Amino acid sequence: MRADVPINPIGRPGQTMKIRSKRTNPSALRAAALAAVVVGLGMGAAALAAQPGKAKYGVEFPPQWTAQGELVQPKDFRQWIFIGSPMTPHGLNDGKANFPEFHNVYVQPSAFKHYRKTGTWPEGTMMVKELQLVQPAQFPDGSRTEVSGRGYFPAGVAGLDIAVKDSSRFKESKNWGYFNYGHHAPPYLRAAAAAPVAACAGCHMANAHEDMVYIKFYKSILDPLPVKK
Ligand code: HEC
Repeated sequence: MRADVPINPIGRPGQTMKIRSKRTNPSALRAAALAAVVVGLGMGAAALAAQPGKAKYGVEFPPQWTAQGELVQPKDFRQWIFIGSPMTPHGLNDGKANFPEFHNVYVQPSAFKHYRKTGTWPEGTMMVKELQLVQPAQFPDGSRTEVSGRGYFPAGVAGLDIAVKDSSRFKESKNWGYFNYGHHAPPYLRAAAAAPVAACAGCHMANAHEDMVYIKFYKSILDPLPVKK
């Protein structure tokens, strides 16, 4: 396996990502690639070799950046840890909620563990929010009746947003950057540029509960499950 084979992480012809790190020697890259195969991280060895930021971030599945500074959509984040699902249905927002409807939030397993241990999010944490529509309405508030009762029930997914903690890139917005991969059915963008502060970070800076995150919505899952004595 060659470590300097160009890969195309954003799926546009002709665009490539340089995956050879100046500071990493080829044998270290080969070892890293082999480790990825052995532990079965579910990602290509080339992708791991393309993570020069790994040491900097200290999280598994660290953020990857294109040469233009866009954040690459993390692979199959649905395998990460699911920490909660606030919802703002269209039915209760005049048909135009900014983030319809369920907001399914995932975080890297290593960031989750780190938070449980220390109460802080490590560099490289990614909060991935995938939007999920509700089943068709039967009532004016957008709700419907299913066997379990009247309410809102998950249907198709419809959008992807990501917040990433990186104090060197996003000092101006309290160490977090925000990315919108499209508010529509998948496929979502393969890579996205940071959104302007006014579009995303500003509201998190002004209102979030703790370190730019609306933590109270996830606390009950972030806390370890109590065990009956
Ligand atoms: C008007 C305020 C506001 C704006 C603007 C905003 N958000 Fe949020 N965001 C919230 C709130 C409140 C939550 C938690 C509750 C929810 O999801 O409804 C949240 C949750 C999130 C989460 C899950 C982690 C967390 O912090 O709770 C991500 C990721 C996220 N937003 C990304 C974005 C992105 C990307 C944009 C811009 C495209 C954006 N947000 C714009 C208010 C905002």
